[in-house]
Amino acid sequence: MPGISVTGVLYGDEGKGKVSDAIGEKADIFVKFQGGSNSGNTVVVDGKEVILHVMPAGVVRNKRCLVASGVVLHPERITEEIELFDGKVNFGIDPRTHIILPYHIALDVARERELKKNTGEPIGTTAQGIGPCYEDSKNRLGLRFGDLVGDPALLEKKLRYNCQLKSKILNQIYDWSIKVPQGGKFGAELVEISEDDMVAQYLELGRKLKPYLTDVSKEIREALKEGKNVIFQGSQGLMLDITFGNYPKVTSSHPMPAGVFTSIGLPPMKFEAIGVVKAYMTKVGSGPVATCLDGGKWPVDESLSEEVAKRIRKEGNEYGATTGRPRRVGWPDMVILKYSCDVCGYTQLAITKLDTLGGIGPIKIAVAYECDGKEFTDYPAWDAGFLLRCKPKYVEIPGFEVEEVRNAKTFEELPEGAKQYITMIGDITGVPVTFISTGPDRNQTILRGLNAF
Ligand code: IMP
Repeated sequence: MPGISVTGVLYGDEGKGKVSDAIGEKADIFVKFQGGSNSGNTVVVDGKEVILHVMPAGVVRNKRCLVASGVVLHPERITEEIELFDGKVNFGIDPRTHIILPYHIALDVARERELKKNTGEPIGTTAQGIGPCYEDSKNRLGLRFGDLVGDPALLEKKLRYNCQLKSKILNQIYDWSIKVPQGGKFGAELVEISEDDMVAQYLELGRKLKPYLTDVSKEIREALKEGKNVIFQGSQGLMLDITFGNYPKVTSSHPMPAGVFTSIGLPPMKFEAIGVVKAYMTKVGSGPVATCLDGGKWPVDESLSEEVAKRIRKEGNEYGATTGRPRRVGWPDMVILKYSCDVCGYTQLAITKLDTLGGIGPIKIAVAYECDGKEFTDYPAWDAGFLLRCKPKYVEIPGFEVEEVRNAKTFEELPEGAKQYITMIGDITGVPVTFISTGPDRNQTILRGLNAF
């Protein structure tokens, strides 16, 4: 099938980059279809690890890389990423893509601050202006890539109007102003940006990015008709979906295969949908996760010891690629995994970081929840308080050693516990696990009937 989506099954950070890269050799085009600089893909360029936030992973294979209209684009971040490759990128951006402006970032920060002050419960956003930018797309105040690279006089007029409007909101409601973290880094010192500086900066960014204007929707439709191989690359994961995730602790887009249609502008069609799931649970930002250990705020899963969680965090390098925040760590959870498979219709699952579960002794896997005196094997995702009230029920599988997993070249060579775990995932979800990542390298991967290009 010429189209394959690669999306996150739970809370993001599953290693979608490795899976996209593994199937990427035969791909012609990589297209990012939602999210923005809230996500991060670690890739190696000239022996150096770099984190790409917006550019699709195919850039390291010199593939055609596109950003579709469903993304919210930070023009400065993408300019930096293009420069990382000395401008030698085969790259295009859809004119309908909304652009992130400094006031979106300021609003994101100000609202999180206000939520924390008044409710003690911020969302824990990445402070990249994602929510406010998606909001502007819906209230029809947004500026799109077509505006950024279009008539400069018109751009200036729109920028000034929006800037003044948002300044009023920031000042009067949040007692705040347009300030952004220095260098765009999460948690960095906030620096004020004036209307004139913002206009000058965005006019310049528009001039720089103009060559990349591409009707991505048309290009992808035509490519698929010609039988070209296209990877639809998602950001985040289903549990962060604005509607079907654990609302309100979610992002503002649809990180699900169905999002491909409206985010790129494609007619209904069949494609392979690879759901990427990490062998254990992680979560960055706030919100309850039934099987996770936590620093204090959310219900703690006492069946997981601090020592094991610390080991997994260290071995799996579980720190946010965008924010550097430590990720909460937990046992695998079949209930929400099945929910994600049911909503998203993955045709295959890819499991990542199986080796990181090694060396911790027997592994607990949540197969049901107990809540309000009842047992649940289906996750009632609409009930925002469910994960706060429920207790996971576990089965235990034999533990294994890291090297036993890393050395396995086939499914049969995997240790007994790992085989049981993967078989259980297939049985419970009804979706075959066709890709098993057994270590960080490209070749530390077991394929089991992977249906790719
Ligand atoms: P936002 O997308 O910055 O608005 O953040 C909303 C929620 O989604 C927060 O809990 C973030 O931590 C989470 N989030 C956003 N992007 C990612 C990601 O790429 N990986 C994991 N969590 C993410």
